[in-house]
Amino acid sequence: MRRAVIARLREAGVDTPALDANVLIGHVLGIAPEQVALRIDAELGQKDLRAIEAVAERRERREPVAYITGTKAFRRLEISVNRDVLIPRPETEVLVEVGLDLWDDSRGARAVDIGTGSGAIALALADERPGRSVLGTDCSPAALQVAADNAQRLRLADRVRLCLTDGAADVDLRGAVLLANLPYISSAELPTLQPEISRWEPRAAVIAGIDGLSVIRKVVAQAGRGKARAAAFEIGVGQAESVAALLIGAGFERTAVHRDLAGHPRVVSGTRVS
Ligand SMILES: C[S@@+](CC[C@H](N)C(=O)[O-])C[C@H]1O[C@@H](n2cnc3c(N)ncnc32)[C@H](O)[C@@H]1O
Repeated sequence: MRRAVIARLREAGVDTPALDANVLIGHVLGIAPEQVALRIDAELGQKDLRAIEAVAERRERREPVAYITGTKAFRRLEISVNRDVLIPRPETEVLVEVGLDLWDDSRGARAVDIGTGSGAIALALADERPGRSVLGTDCSPAALQVAADNAQRLRLADRVRLCLTDGAADVDLRGAVLLANLPYISSAELPTLQPEISRWEPRAAVIAGIDGLSVIRKVVAQAGRGKARAAAFEIGVGQAESVAALLIGAGFERTAVHRDLAGHPRVVSGTRVS
């Protein structure tokens, strides 16, 4: 069974067919992915076989593994996800690290996560800074429902407040540390994306106008006008200089570029000196 699933996923163009087969079959059987290869097909009942067939079909259609299992690991947390939210990415952990550093420097300041989606960033910050509170915003009510459910399940709802708004509109940002992983892919790039993203993830979580900067541009301006003390944005390929210039233009005197584990510029931050 496992070999047949791997072959089907490979045929469908999935990049990591063996890994995905192990995770999905393990999910169905309630065992760890590394145990899957040890299971003998003859031990599987009809119900298990039907459930494995169903997850294999979904993955063949290039539905992301995390939407099928309903969960994704992020920092120390298991975040529940569905098609209303972007699946949290490992690269975004860089933004959390930058945020934790900036937040340490400004005791008492509030942290605000703009475009919180599943709540991953806001929840990770609250989890790693016990006793401190975070505000998460999103323009999607469906995404905020997922974030609220995650906050409840992870017992962080008393310290993670959620708000439906456009960027940081109507949010008191004075002295705040603003973090944002907003959509940053240009509309022209949509056809070049993996089907897992272009067919399955919410368009409004991925695409941001003709240069990919339409949402970031708006939120940088809000951060400047609102007198946030610091702001950090996850960015895509080739956007570091533009976003640094936007931050300077909005009144942040010092900017820095932070790289991910692969060495790519991944986050641009801006801080006020005074
Ligand atoms: C790239 S996803 C990131 C989700 C989450 N922060 C993460 O890192 O996994 C971007 C999120 O920004 C939200 N978004 C897009 N435009 C927005 C806007 N103008 N105001 C608020 N949220 C917005 C989307 O609904 C989506 O949830």
